[in-house]
Amino acid sequence: MISVNLKAAGEFIPQQLYNEYVEKAYCGLETLLNGTGAGNDFLGWVTLPGEIDEKLVNSCNEIVERWKGKVDVVVVVGIGGSYLGAKCAIEALSHSFAASMPSAFPKVVYAGHNMSEDYAAELLEFLEGKNFAIVVISKSGTTTEPAIAFRLLKEYLERGFGKEVAKERIVAVTDAAKGALRTLATQEGYSTFVIPDNVGGRFSVLTPVGLLPIALAGFDIAKLAQGARDMQKICAEKSPENPAIMYAAARNLLYNSGRNIEILVNYNPKLQYLGEWWKQLYGESEGKDGKGIFPASVNFSTDLHSMGQYIQEGERTMFETNVLVKNQSHTVKIEKDEQNLDGLNFLAGKRIEQINKMAQLGTRLAHTDGGVPNLEIEIDKIDEYNVGGLFYMFEIACGISGYMLGVNPFNQPGVEAYKKNMFALLDKPGHEEASKAIKERLGLQ
Ligand code: PA5
Repeated sequence: MISVNLKAAGEFIPQQLYNEYVEKAYCGLETLLNGTGAGNDFLGWVTLPGEIDEKLVNSCNEIVERWKGKVDVVVVVGIGGSYLGAKCAIEALSHSFAASMPSAFPKVVYAGHNMSEDYAAELLEFLEGKNFAIVVISKSGTTTEPAIAFRLLKEYLERGFGKEVAKERIVAVTDAAKGALRTLATQEGYSTFVIPDNVGGRFSVLTPVGLLPIALAGFDIAKLAQGARDMQKICAEKSPENPAIMYAAARNLLYNSGRNIEILVNYNPKLQYLGEWWKQLYGESEGKDGKGIFPASVNFSTDLHSMGQYIQEGERTMFETNVLVKNQSHTVKIEKDEQNLDGLNFLAGKRIEQINKMAQLGTRLAHTDGGVPNLEIEIDKIDEYNVGGLFYMFEIACGISGYMLGVNPFNQPGVEAYKKNMFALLDKPGHEEASKAIKERLGLQ
């Protein structure tokens, strides 16, 4: 269902050197599966696919049923790992114009992933007069962005529908015991789902963090889990055909040959948020101790008209990982036109995807010739099964890569720096000294 093709990278991945990296990737996989590496208290995600049982799927589907016909919009509140996985899967699986199409399922919109006042005001404006519900997701239960959004939305919901109805229309996904969100949920009597202690945010898409919003958007989470489960078996193998091994080996080889930027490329806009989810997964996992590949993403052919020039001829420090889709869900052909004023009759009878494919092959060749190695990861089609598989494969490859790089892939100490400054600037209790110092530094006093 998922295959990795390294042939396109040609001379950039010499066979003998690659074999050495495969051996290193096997060591990384062993460290991961044996739980002997740094951050081994955060490995709960490795076995998650096998733990998505009927009970969990049914609990998510109960919320779907509870809100069916009563709720037009679900606001999913969360940021980072508590947002990107669900958004990625929902965007990939949805109709491209889902926002304006009728559906038996509620529309899913997002909040708490930014602190834009315009966004907040316009979201409330959009919700005006609508039957809406909220899924608030935060592992720590204390993250500022979702906490602010939830405070606003909760108040708005209660004001519009009363506290009793609001209680039925709020679900919290958080830690089993800790955090402000858990306290609030218990006090208010909300339905809740638990994020296991040993699963970090960016590895949590296969917990209710991702599963509940995906189910609410109308998708089959049992199939998604099956895809992840099948991939779990494949990714546990010390085999040169294991896609996680191949990908981790190739990207680390390229990194150590001076390619410190990886661009995740798609040729289907449904996969735009795969790039966003992947950037967080790899960026937060690898970017530390002065090391790590910088993860970027582009959507082709759209961005061939913006980033194409740089990739073709800019600094030679990058490589591309193409996520390709073998089978499309639709067929659209170019018709012959009698007048042929646009000169496109040479394409008559061809499917748009055939043209897209030629754009991809042409780009691969041009970029490789221009000094940008290309890796390819292909899935059969965009559906729940393959999305589940892709999530798991990228997660395992990320754990292996982190260990190959020599970092702890499961912490994110650097994320705290901006928060400390922000709290000091906002005079949060407990930050008095830092507050004075930072205001002096910024000339605010
Ligand atoms: O991967 C991570 O740990 C982070 O991106 C978190 O998911 C993000 O900061 C949100 O945290 P929380 O779920 O605690 O609100």
